[in-house]
Amino acid sequence: MERLQKVIADAGITSRRKAEELILAGKVCVNGEVVKTLGVKVSGSDLIEVNGALIERDTAKKYYLLNKPRGVISSVSDDKKRPTVVDYIDTDARIYPVGRLDYDTTGLILLTNDGELANLLMHPTNKIPKTYIAKIEGILNKDDIDRLKNGIMIDGRKTVIQDFKIRDKDFEKKTSLVEVTIVEGRNHIIKKLFDAIHHPVIRLSRIKIAFLSIDKMKSGEYRELTIKEVKKLYSLR
Ligand code: URA
Repeated sequence: MERLQKVIADAGITSRRKAEELILAGKVCVNGEVVKTLGVKVSGSDLIEVNGALIERDTAKKYYLLNKPRGVISSVSDDKKRPTVVDYIDTDARIYPVGRLDYDTTGLILLTNDGELANLLMHPTNKIPKTYIAKIEGILNKDDIDRLKNGIMIDGRKTVIQDFKIRDKDFEKKTSLVEVTIVEGRNHIIKKLFDAIHHPVIRLSRIKIAFLSIDKMKSGEYRELTIKEVKKLYSLR
């Protein structure tokens, strides 16, 4: 038996705290009965509705780390029938990506059916660091680097870089390879950062999320997380 709010969070509907609010607001039914108090426990066979819709439950939690290739969409399905990250994983579990990488971005993406962990990793207050390698146009000068390090306003909010390194400079081709760590999860954030200093991103890859790294995994390769890794991710909250 598990607490109702945990089951709702695990189904990826919302966070555990918001699930509690939904319960208190009378928006949750168990086997057709409205439940308005916290502390109710449910079993795998109980039918749970949130806002009138039955939630689907996977009982076994699955966690995968994929090295996403270019030209793959970070969602469970695509209207245009493009390949999705889920297509790469051989599982019957109803997994989905934790956050997104752009169609043309490669690298580390997590997939799970554990809504609670997905919420934890995406919630801005948990400040989960993500590291990217970007090939950008041009050679950065001191002014560009200072701007990046001081934080850049993107869509009205300041984006702070946790760590920044120049890995390589190609003076002939006028490109640079940089490593950037940020705790933000806003869409296209790295591309927007470098657009803001007029050094657009040519190629982008995510190499790390917290302590997890892509290591020597080939493009399209995936592996399951270990229990130890899952526990360590939970401890980041
Ligand atoms: N920032 C981007 O611009 N694109 C990504 O895919 C991820 C972070």
